[in-house]
Formats: sequence, C-alpha cells, structure tokens
Amino acid sequence: MSNNNLVTELAGRLGGIAIVSSDITDDDLKGIDIESIIARIRNHFGRGEATAILTKELLGEIMKEKEEYPEQNKVEVVRSSDFKPVAKDIKEDFAIRNVDIEKTAGRVSDFAVFFNDRLKKIKAIISEGQNSRASGMVYNIENIKKYAGGREVVIAGMVYEKRVTQNGNLLVKLEDETGIATVIFNKPSKESSNIDNELWSTANKTINDEVIAVRGKISGPWVIARALIYPDVPVHQHKKTEDDIAIAFMSDVHVGSKLFVQKQFDRFLEWMNGKHEYMRGLAEKTKYIVVSGDLVDGIGVYPNQEKELAIDDIYKQYTELFNLFSKIPEYVHIFLLTGNHDAVQRAEPQPRLPGEFYKDFKLSNIHLVSNPGYVTLNGVRILGYHGTSLDSVIQGIPGCSYSKPEGAMLELLKRRHLSPIYGDNPIVPSKNDSMVIDKVPDIMHMGHLHKNGYTEYHGTLIINSGTWQARTGFQVRMGHIPTPAMLPVHETRHGVMSVVDFNNEFN
Ligand SMILES: [Fe+2]
Repeated sequence: MSNNNLVTELAGRLGGIAIVSSDITDDDLKGIDIESIIARIRNHFGRGEATAILTKELLGEIMKEKEEYPEQNKVEVVRSSDFKPVAKDIKEDFAIRNVDIEKTAGRVSDFAVFFNDRLKKIKAIISEGQNSRASGMVYNIENIKKYAGGREVVIAGMVYEKRVTQNGNLLVKLEDETGIATVIFNKPSKESSNIDNELWSTANKTINDEVIAVRGKISGPWVIARALIYPDVPVHQHKKTEDDIAIAFMSDVHVGSKLFVQKQFDRFLEWMNGKHEYMRGLAEKTKYIVVSGDLVDGIGVYPNQEKELAIDDIYKQYTELFNLFSKIPEYVHIFLLTGNHDAVQRAEPQPRLPGEFYKDFKLSNIHLVSNPGYVTLNGVRILGYHGTSLDSVIQGIPGCSYSKPEGAMLELLKRRHLSPIYGDNPIVPSKNDSMVIDKVPDIMHMGHLHKNGYTEYHGTLIINSGTWQARTGFQVRMGHIPTPAMLPVHETRHGVMSVVDFNNEFN
C-alpha cells in the first residue's frame, strides 16, 4: 500500500494555494515531474481563489493541459496597444541596505571578535523572544555553576562541540562570553513521549557554530536538556502593499556559460516587453526584479571551466549581461546581488559588483547590491543571499536535500544566520557578523542550488528562484536536476505567487 509521500509533498508545497483532495494518491503523481506540475497548479489557482481545491479530476485536466501546452497556449505576438503596464504608472519606492564588508587580516583575534559579535546579536534575539513568551530569562553560563542540581535554567551559546556519548546520548557543548556548558540530550526509549522524540530529532539537527538556547535541569556537571530553543522568527503578518504590483525573482543567470539558456532568457525579455499573451497580466504588474547572484559564469571559478565558456572574457560576460538587462523596460527596477561566480572576493559577505564592469551602461533602473543584501520594495523587506552556505547546510542537517532548497533555507531562517557552519565556505571574520539575519524578512530569496523551491514560514515567504543555466556536467555527476527558466513572480497586494515557465515555445 502506498504511504502517499508524493501527495504529502505536493500538499506541503501548495500550502496557501490549494488544498489537495483526499481522492488523489501517490499513484496519480508517479512518473511526473513534480516541480513542473507544482508550477502548473500554482498558475492555475494563483489568481486569488481563496478556497481552491485540487481534485483528482482537476489534476488530470491540469496534467493534460501540460501535455498539450505548446498548442493550447499558442501565443500570438500581441500589438503593443494590448500591453498595459500598470507598473509604469506606479512610482518606484525602494531602499537598499548593503551589509558591512570590512576586511581583516584573518588573525585568531579577528575570529574571536567575529564570533562574539554573532553570539551577542543572536543571544539578544533569543532573549527578546524568551521575554515576549514570558518563559524565563537567559542565564550566563558561568552563573549557573552556583546553582544546586535539579534547578531549571535557560542558557544560550554557540555550539562548540557535538558528539554521541558511549550511552548513545547526544552531548553538545555550548559556549557564551562567560564559559562553556555541557548539555546532554537523552536518547529516547520506547516509552518516551512525543515531546522527547521531537527534542531528540531537533537536537540531532544541531550544527557547529550556530547559536541556540537550551532549557534544562542542572545535574552535576551537566545540563540535561528539556527543550531546544532557536532564535527563530516571530509569527508575523505577511506584508502586503497598497499598489497592485509584482516582484520577479531570479538567480544564477550564468551569462557567458555555453549552457546559459539564451532562448528562454530572450523569451523572458519579450514577455517583460508585453510581446506574449501568456501570463501577460503579471508582466504588466512587474515593477521590480531581484537577482540573487551568479550574474555571469565567471572565469577560473573551477578547474577547466574555460572549456564550458561561450564568452571567455569576464568584462565581455558582464557587457553581455547588461546588454540583456538593458532590454527590460526602464520603469522596472532591477537589483543585482553578487554570488560565488561573480568578479568579487569569494569570501562572504561579498561586496557589490564594482563599477568597472558597469561603466558603459549606468542604467538608472539597475542597482548593484552586496551579498547578502536587504532591499525594501514598497515596504516589503526582502533579504537576498546567493546561498553558498546551502551546500554545507544540506551536508550537515539531517532531512535537508538538494531537491528541496526551501527546506535548507528554512533551517537558516530559524537559526537567524545565513552561514552558520564555519569552515566549509569562506567567510570574512569582520568585527560585525553581517551574516546574522538581524531583521525579520518578509521574503527570503536565494539561488545557488539551481533548483526552484518555495515555502512560507511564520509569515516569511521563502523563495529559491532556480537558474538560467541548463544542467551542467557537474550536476549530472552529482545527480542534481536543475529547474532552469522558471521565474517566480510575487504579487504583493494579494500575496499570491506564480511561476512563469519560459521553457516552452510561446509561438
Ligand atoms: Fe550558480
């Protein structure tokens, strides 16, 4: 008998868009490309029907639509008078916050200052959350040593060590400014409650260098954990705008690569200019585009890359990128972050793209942003980050995978840090740890994994916008399947997200 894993995944991914009817089973979903069908379903329902239900019959129709898509959605090139870009009449309203990027010599003392800043900031977030939940103050680790066994305390610190003890329990050492505490998470037994099982599963997701809090009882030299508390984001209302506008998200454009999907990108440019009827209402509303890094493929990013380049000059790669973006109407404001393939320092946080790559353009609607960077658009706060750390998060946290980037992104949001595990991807140890998520974003947008993924958590919309590069040899070897040319577009007045698929011929 089927346990309906695919149905569960589909229902989770469609949260807020449609309810999956109980007559759909895994057998109905076998052998279909789940990403593509999710995009179709979102597009089918994404027009504001609050109580949409996906029945088996409707699923069949949508899948049929997909097969017949090129014919059914045959789009004529429309007359320019048919294109009514409402976004043109709406005044842009944006603010950019580039993060602090401060070079240091990378001495041991620099790292101490850097990690202390992380600890201080995230501990403050935890304390604020604890106070608002009225569930007790956070103790300094040194102070708990004076208390007798049995007393309940809450401590917060950076994970310094994690290992399994001889008895199969989990030992986690937490360090704050005052000392180190040894916390024990007991391995659950058959008689353990659901709460204990859940705590064990959460404790196993602990990663080095993250800042967490633990509620537990003092027992000799240990604290026996009762609860693990993430800094987390509070449940908040998803921010909406007065104006009926839309924000499009893209990442990993990789201009200059032989595998850059030029045809699909040209189709996107035509769409933005109102040349296609397909989802034209969204193109008319699109006021902003946020691009989360890997703007170009770069030079020398990995061994033998030159064999995979269509443009082997970094300046010419950026010239081509800006040529393409200059075809987007000027009333659309575009925010370009950097990524690990871009021509800036590899260590994060990364600065904005230097002006030398942009000097021949100076387009008034293009804005260069750091990685990570915050962009507030008509009051909607977007945290953009390329996502380089997602590789180490997927390696380090059980349950995370390359096929679900949104899951790994959610783990970062809960930890209020964009790159918690030190050592796997380079970080600049500056005085100010700019990778701390100090403000709660309305939208958190990343790329890097070349795979689209979406979810919503406590009112924050999480988007991974995939790529504009076809499957690389590296991805074939790793078994990763990218989702090129799928453009998530978020309508901010109604809080509806759609995905525009540029992989099919429109005419
Ligand atoms: Fe990339």
